[in-house]
Amino acid sequence: METYKLPELPYAYNALVPYISEEQLGIHHDKHHAAYVKGANDILEKLDKARKESAEIDMKSALKSLSFNIGGHILHSLFWANMAPKAGGEPKGKLLEEIKNNFGSFDQFKKEFTAAAMSIEGSGWAALVKEEKSGKLIIMQIEKHNQNMYPAASLILVLDMWEHAFYIDYKNEKGKFVDAFWNLVNWAEAGKRLQ
Ligand SMILES: [Fe+2]
Repeated sequence: METYKLPELPYAYNALVPYISEEQLGIHHDKHHAAYVKGANDILEKLDKARKESAEIDMKSALKSLSFNIGGHILHSLFWANMAPKAGGEPKGKLLEEIKNNFGSFDQFKKEFTAAAMSIEGSGWAALVKEEKSGKLIIMQIEKHNQNMYPAASLILVLDMWEHAFYIDYKNEKGKFVDAFWNLVNWAEAGKRLQ
């Protein structure tokens, strides 16, 4: 029983060159993202099996791992979709308006988002979210795949800052990867998520 499936990329493996190479994108999607999908399915199966056999299970460890893998799957799926070939530039319409309202200007937002991405400790994500209680757009750092998240926040834009996202193309120069990302942002997709 497969609950989660690896989505196909919405573009070809070489579509994001020169910002993300075919090899980098291929390994990231086919190996890393695939591993989270398998991990989530395996744990659900393990929980199911333990239920049927009335077996004891280390619930804390199973649920921690389940949340890690589902988080990885969801974030990567959003990440592929919020990039596109021949994209980048500035958002339009309501998203641009809300970015200006919340951050003062698009440039200021870009500066803060870049700083958030660059200062993540270890593996994690930078994300632009709409915090539902206040309706504010907020930048957050996601540790690994699932920590530091606001309970009620919709993800609008995510950037994978795990080393596996850039080491083939940029080695330790993650700043170059963040610069490259700004040329790939699919603002139309981000705008849809805001709705
Ligand atoms: Fe990743």
